[in-house]
Amino acid sequence: MPQTLRDGTAPVHDLVGVGFGPSNLALAIAVHEHNAAGGPPVHAVFLERQPVFGWHRGMLIEDATMQVSFLKDLVTMRNPASSFSFLCYLQERGRLIDFVNHKSLFPLRIEFHDYLEWAAGRVGDLVRYGAEVTAVRPVVVDGIVTAFDVRSHGETLRARNVVLAGGLRPVLPPGIAASRRVWHSRDLLSNVDGLAGTDPARLVVVGAGQSAAEVTAFLHERFPRAEVCAVLSRYGYSPADDSPFANRIFDPLAVDDYFKASPQVKSMLLGYHSNTNYSVVDTDLIETLYRRAYREQVLGTRRLRMLNVSRLVAVDEPTGDRVRATVQSMLTGEHTVLDADVLVCATGYAPADPFPLLGSVAADCHRDELGRAVVERDYRIRTEPAVHAGIYLQGGTEHSHGISSSLLSNTATRAAEILASVHHRRRTGSVPAPPAPPVPATAAVSW
Ligand code: FDA
Repeated sequence: MPQTLRDGTAPVHDLVGVGFGPSNLALAIAVHEHNAAGGPPVHAVFLERQPVFGWHRGMLIEDATMQVSFLKDLVTMRNPASSFSFLCYLQERGRLIDFVNHKSLFPLRIEFHDYLEWAAGRVGDLVRYGAEVTAVRPVVVDGIVTAFDVRSHGETLRARNVVLAGGLRPVLPPGIAASRRVWHSRDLLSNVDGLAGTDPARLVVVGAGQSAAEVTAFLHERFPRAEVCAVLSRYGYSPADDSPFANRIFDPLAVDDYFKASPQVKSMLLGYHSNTNYSVVDTDLIETLYRRAYREQVLGTRRLRMLNVSRLVAVDEPTGDRVRATVQSMLTGEHTVLDADVLVCATGYAPADPFPLLGSVAADCHRDELGRAVVERDYRIRTEPAVHAGIYLQGGTEHSHGISSSLLSNTATRAAEILASVHHRRRTGSVPAPPAPPVPATAAVSW
């Protein structure tokens, strides 16, 4: 990281990353490898609001596996010889041969988390944890935005480029708020210990996707005396299509194809291939759940209860220790009232909206007719000509770059593309030198 300059000014970073999940971690590694190889140094800092590295910790269910091949790790698709690969991680942990014998492309999620933590630890000098970014503001010189000041908890970093990778936000059904008895699946593991020793009688899970099925299976196993009610709008859990031809929708080449396609073809592709990712479940897990349900039917001990073609229509908490979920069958219109210990909404996520952080810069960002950022192929938001500094998005680009935008499939390749773009724009002089901020940088900034 660049030090304070001799003239008492603070450095201008080539890039400041907002968020340090897998997307910006992959970028940090690309920067690290570039600098280590002796390229023109790239000064980068990443700001993460969590106190330590963490990737969907609330869903690190012990036996849950990844939905992506380990070869689509943080680096391999960019640089198969990288020492940051999942295979190098395995070798360091002494499990390489055991993983090979396992004959699976899909590591445990908990294991992949350990891999991500291991990689994050190796580029720890580029990251500041406990640093929530609260604002990104323009540095204007003669009418030109030459840089951004990125503000987090009293500190401000100046950057020629910001890379926003704030991830996904949990979505609850309309009108429903999280509480002690109503959880989003994101918080499953952090909340579930609160049920220890309470011997819950009934738990309700809403949703039809992978998380919903995982939560259902987890609660059913963890609380062997509880009835677990799965509420889903589908007729039953549907399998994720991970067959080889369909899987190509996640390839780097598919990003090119999707980017160039007309809006009609884009929406057709998303429609055809949504079953590779949305509201679908791994076949193994579907079979596990079905086997359990059937076994209970045979034994006459039914406690895994499916309320299919149904939707949640009301949630009340008449007392602090129960939640009442009213579920309507979409076939008959009949209402079923479920008094439960906990209602878990595995109702998905939405990408973080980049505009609130950007303040006045948001007005200089081009948007499409639905208000979404217009994003160039290099993941840079298209801005007014007077904005010479770059705003890049990692995630939230499904409308422009396709279905892999919020997934891990293209993380390594995308990091390389963003780094190449930052270099290219610097080399071609499309980013004039911004002024260095004084030290301490915060003293010069008023909001
Ligand atoms: P991610 O959400 O991981 O990270 C964003 C980071 O930004 C967070 O650490 C957050 O704290 C931080 N942040 C946000 N706002 C900030 C601010 N203002 N200031 C500072 N920091 C800020 N995909 C896949 O391809 N295969 C898989 O197997 C899975 N499995 C999976 C399981 C579960 C339970 C979920 C919920 C999701 C998946 N996914 C997935 C999809 C998932 O989106 C993907 O794996 C990555 O998390 C995307 O990485 P990002 O870094 O983009 O976001």
